[in-house]
Amino acid sequence: MDLFAHRGVSAHYPENTKAAFYAASKLPIAGIELDVHVTADGELVVIHDETIDRTSNGSGYVKDFTLQQLRAYDYGSWFAAQFQGESIPTLGEVLEIFVATHHRINIELKTDVFPYEGIEALVLKEIATHQMTERVIISSFNHESLQTVYQMAPYIETAALFAEVLVDFTTYTATIPANAIHVSLPTAFRKPIATALEKEATVRVYTVNDVKYAQQLQQLGIQALFTDDPEAILDGINKD
Ligand code: G3P
Ligand code: CA
Repeated sequence: MDLFAHRGVSAHYPENTKAAFYAASKLPIAGIELDVHVTADGELVVIHDETIDRTSNGSGYVKDFTLQQLRAYDYGSWFAAQFQGESIPTLGEVLEIFVATHHRINIELKTDVFPYEGIEALVLKEIATHQMTERVIISSFNHESLQTVYQMAPYIETAALFAEVLVDFTTYTATIPANAIHVSLPTAFRKPIATALEKEATVRVYTVNDVKYAQQLQQLGIQALFTDDPEAILDGINKD
């Protein structure tokens, strides 16, 4: 079973920062996951929330700041004093960390609150610039965004994110179309996921920080999970 470091190694570093991704780049895991929003001046930045309030010493919507304005804030101190001075990274800066590694990069388009018109083309351009076409997975809770990606670049792997259970995941994802199914931990144990796995769907599960659940998911035949603490889960699933 593959592991993806969720927002980087976010159990031990401030999420979605270069520090969290550098730590992940040193680990023997399948890949990383990150979240993308668009600034007022059209730059792609890596941050989870629509606002900077929770993960910086500033306040306001990402979409209302230019990149330069966002750089005035500190994205590390909220997590621990030792990370004071961490900045908000651009997507390009994070991809740069992984150019010479083996890791897959799951780029989540955070278009479910603000649509960020044109984000798909911007992300595809960044992926092409870094020659990472074969290593990326683009996911979103906004499945219209995935349709746009498919129309522009059908060769890129896409994954539909689900917060709830569907009766029939595979029939639905074929209509988008998307290549993989990304579900929450409770959903992973429901029958429609067992059915999807029987149909050879690719299923990845977020966010799994408990070794016992990780072991159960491995037994079910889940292909990958997203975790904030990849080393702890790696130790746990490799134990007999
Ligand atoms: O991509 C999996 C997971 O990151 C989705 O939820 O809220 O952590 O972005 P969230
Ligand atoms: Ca995410």
